[in-house]
Parts: sequence; C-alpha cells; structure tokens
Amino acid sequence: MNTKISEIDESSLKLSKEIIEDGGAVAFPTETVYGLGANAFNTAAVENIFKIKGRPNDNPLIVHVHKDYDLSALVDFVPDYAVKLAKAFLPGPLTMVYKSKGKVSPAVSCGLETLAVRIPSHEGAQRFLKYLNLPIAAPSANVSKHVSPTAAEHVFYDLNGKIELILNGGKCSGGIESTVLDCTGEAPVVLRSGLITREMIEKVAGSCAEYVYKEGAAARSPGMKYKHYSPACRTSLYAYEERFAALAEYKSERGRGVKAFILCDNQTATELKAEYVLNLGSTENEIAANLYSKLREGEGMADYIIAIAPEKQNGVMAGVMNRLKKACGSNL
Ligand code: TXA
Ligand code: MG
Repeated sequence: MNTKISEIDESSLKLSKEIIEDGGAVAFPTETVYGLGANAFNTAAVENIFKIKGRPNDNPLIVHVHKDYDLSALVDFVPDYAVKLAKAFLPGPLTMVYKSKGKVSPAVSCGLETLAVRIPSHEGAQRFLKYLNLPIAAPSANVSKHVSPTAAEHVFYDLNGKIELILNGGKCSGGIESTVLDCTGEAPVVLRSGLITREMIEKVAGSCAEYVYKEGAAARSPGMKYKHYSPACRTSLYAYEERFAALAEYKSERGRGVKAFILCDNQTATELKAEYVLNLGSTENEIAANLYSKLREGEGMADYIIAIAPEKQNGVMAGVMNRLKKACGSNL
C-alpha cells in the first residue's frame, strides 16, 4: 500500500471519508500529537488499528468528536464539574472519561464500561471530524511503544505502507498527549498528565486528585502500565540536581567513541556547555512541544541519549516528566 501525505482540503477530506466509511484508518493532526483514526462504531475497523500499531489489546482508545457533536448519544452521567471543565477547556487537550452508553464498538474501550472522549482544538482535526460526523476512535499514530508523532513525517516514518492517507496539519503545537481525566466519580482524577494541568482543573472543579499507578496493580487507565514513547537507542534520565553527573557520563561516553547527546532545556544547555545537545527550548510550552521531535531527532543520530529532568516538576512539567520517565524507562 502506498501511503500518501495530503494537505487538508476538500479532496483529501473526501478520500478520508471514503477510507473511514470503508472500515480503514486515516492519520490526522491534533494540537497534541497525530492520531490514527477509525470509525468507532465499526469493530473490525477499530481492531485493525490495534493491528496496525501492534498495540496491546487491553489498552483502550479515545473517541474523538467535533465540537458540536451531541455527546449525550455516547455517554451517561456527566457530572456538574465535568460540564464546567468542558466549558473552560474544550475544544482542547483534555480527554474526559465517562460512563459509556455502549453505543460505540466494545473494542474501543477494550470491554471497560467507560468511554474516553476528546474534542481536539486543532482546526484540521475539527474539519476532519465535522466532515465525517462520526465518533473517531484514535490512538497516537505511532507504532506501539515508539515515540508519539508530532509531525506528518513522523507518522510516515512509523506507518509507511500500513495506511493509505496521512492528513498533514503541520507540527503539533502542544506536543504531548492530552490530559486524561476520570469524570466518573464525585471529583475528577487525572489518569494521565498533560497540558491541561491538575492545577488548572482544580481551579475550575474545586478539587482534583491524581492517580498514581503502582507496578503490578490493575491500572485504572491501562496505558499507564506500558513502556511508551521510547526512542530506538539507549537512554537514561538524570534528576536536575544530578546534571553535572549527567555531563560527566556524557564526557566519559564521548571519550569512548559513543555518540552521546544530552537532552535538556535551553538554560541547562547553556550552563553545561556540552557540544552535542538536543535542546528542548526555554519555556514550558516549548519544552512540551519539542520533546517528541527531539527524541526522534536524537534516535536518528545518537547511540545514547542522556536526558536531564526539568528543575520544575509541577504544571506542564508534570506531563513532560511523565513522558521522559517512560521514554527512558526510568523510575526517577
Ligand atoms: O492527545 C491525545 O490524547 C492523543 C491524540 C491522538 O488525541 N491520543 C492518544 O491516544 O494519546 P493513546 O491511545 O496513545 O492514549 C490513550 C490513553 C491511554 O493511556 C489509555 O489507557 C487511556 O487513554 N484511556 C482510553 N480509554 C480509557 C478509559 N475508558 N478509561 C481510562 N483510560 C482510558
Ligand atoms: Mg499513544
């Protein structure tokens, strides 16, 4: 199969509709990362997404809808705090988990009684979802366990020959996956951190808890238990306080001929003055937006990526830290 990258226009939207209605999958941009979408009502189409990605079949998918879609057709029991949160943050990088009405294929939620719903703000995503007027089940459009894609070329690299069409909406401005928020209880619970931070949710909803997954336990959000986002080279993660130990490690590896690169923010890069750096930028939003593209750039030229954690660990940096730990297989 030839994989085509197309700008989002009438003809590519028409083709995407044909593919999706025929039970196929189309990659599309969102403000976080690219998604690989299929018709959420069609079980074979949803199962095919798991196959294309090599995704474990107990890791549920998020359903994407356009901003005017009537969600009450899909989910039940939307609590007051969720209505407030939706008003404040949607469309945007916040996925909300509700009790499912069981209308979409059971393959979407892997048999769970809940359904994760997302209304992306990316203009191209909105056009695509509006044009199809269907709930679109979509994981990130990478091969399972690889780094999530933040550009059409990343999707092409991972899925060339496996899908027909990639809708090109440019570089994703957000860069890390949406915040996943459990809205089935009395108060919201963050299952996966992201750009809509726990602090932001707390301000609107009054309170917000964070779920911490313990190794071996039944995960409330199955995605948590998998090693994700890994680049195809050796990696390690150092705490910010250990940055000079990271520099020493980099120098010793370079001394042995290993192509080591330091991955860190601009301030740390300036302080350490290493020659080979994957610079994530200065502001929190820049760091999040660049994280995956720098990991992909790094795996193309490095034998070994030595990542240094950001100094700050809350807000947006909580999401960045979560992804860095997964990329580096670190318990830091
Ligand atoms: O930003 C994003 O969320 C991107 C774009 C494409 O929208 N999508 C994405 O999908 O990151 P994926 O499949 O890579 O991650 C979905 C996450 C997983 O951690 C999964 O366990 C969780 O959402 N999830 C999905 N349905 C759930 C449910 N019913 N209950 C709890 N967690 C759920
Ligand atoms: Mg993913």
